Amino acid sequence: MEHTKQELARQTAQAAQDHVDGERLRLAIAELASFGGRSDGGVSRETLTDTDLKARRHLVDRARSMGCVVEIDDCANLFFRRAGQSDLPSVLTGSHADTQPVGGKLDGAYGVLAGLEVIQALNDAAVPTLRSVEVVAWTNEEGSRFGPGCMGSSAFVEPARLAGYRAVVDGNQVAFGEALDRALEAMPDVPRRALRQPLAGFVELHIEQGPVLEHAGVPLGVVTGIQSVRWYRVQVTGVAAHAGTTPMEVRADAMAASVEVAHCLYAEAAKLAASQLRLTLGRWVVSPNSINTIPGAVEFTIDVRCVDEQVLAGFDRTLRDIIGTNAGRGRMALECLFERPPTRFAQEMLTLVEEACTRASHLACRPPPIRVTSGAFHDAMYLAEHCPTAMIFVPSQGGLSHNAAEETAHEDLLLGAQALAYAVTRMACA
Ligand code: GLV
Ligand code: MN
Ligand code: MN
Repeated sequence: MEHTKQELARQTAQAAQDHVDGERLRLAIAELASFGGRSDGGVSRETLTDTDLKARRHLVDRARSMGCVVEIDDCANLFFRRAGQSDLPSVLTGSHADTQPVGGKLDGAYGVLAGLEVIQALNDAAVPTLRSVEVVAWTNEEGSRFGPGCMGSSAFVEPARLAGYRAVVDGNQVAFGEALDRALEAMPDVPRRALRQPLAGFVELHIEQGPVLEHAGVPLGVVTGIQSVRWYRVQVTGVAAHAGTTPMEVRADAMAASVEVAHCLYAEAAKLAASQLRLTLGRWVVSPNSINTIPGAVEFTIDVRCVDEQVLAGFDRTLRDIIGTNAGRGRMALECLFERPPTRFAQEMLTLVEEACTRASHLACRPPPIRVTSGAFHDAMYLAEHCPTAMIFVPSQGGLSHNAAEETAHEDLLLGAQALAYAVTRMACA
């Protein structure tokens, strides 16, 4: 009996996988990319901007045209459901539709649209599933407009986080809460649902955003986990003064002090190169930002990541020492904005995803999948706290992402969606 059930689940998963339509997916990606589309091929669609709201409406219309039930929660996460035969917890897939200030057409969007393609494939195969299959577009994964990232998925998993997020402001002093209320008001026709719903599992399909799969010549990666990450803000206060009249030895130059700290941090990162620590000093705000005034205040952000959490903890100690040592050159304040330990996906999910990727690769006469660790963070990082979770990667050409030129071969995008269809359907039939 159990054997027959397993065999039926496998057959249904295969039917879904075999009905994925690569051309339909390619067109869907191009259509979504037109919201915030740039002449260089990139996309500018930061979270909860007017452009993002238009893209969300496009997704709602698309999902409804496929027969999905659409719902939204208090963090404006959008859910598209293909009803199952039971009211058992759903199987969820999807990713995010927001981009970096200048991003590509695939980061996040691919996972959402491939999820909708899975639903379309199930419809075309005319196969029912025991559990509902849901696709989500999480709010503010990127964290570039409102930090930290993954606000939608982390609030879904732990709704108490939302109150703190609402107070976060963007560069124009617009509060996340205000932007969120606008997004919710723009969807009066979409029923509200509670955060933190029980789920049978979550599978996120994403571009790798790094070079590993391309170098290996392999189209699919089974993601074993996500490396640890910490974000900081450094604020340096000096005294703004005349650039021509103020002798060098009496200046309190916030930029000179910041540059000194930056040098020390890059030197520390170079020492830790063997541990593959990655350091980025990303957002610099200089005040008054004038050619002939000594900077009176500088603020910059630090993004540091490593697969080894101990190495990151050591870097944190060194960072605090460096800030302490350089404090004499200007007042310095260090604030940790965000920190996550490494994520490890459950073994049974790796087995399922491996089976899904192996079948898709085999049928296309391509090399079998390999196991990889994610260098980027993803919504799956929070979902892993909540339900069995997995990720599938496809290669990024040149390892490039967070860049307008981000690209993946169409045949690889198709294989990723096929693997997703199999994994999600297998879970939805159990
Ligand atoms: C997500 O975009 C990340 O910064 O890893
Ligand atoms: Mn992403
Ligand atoms: Mn991203």
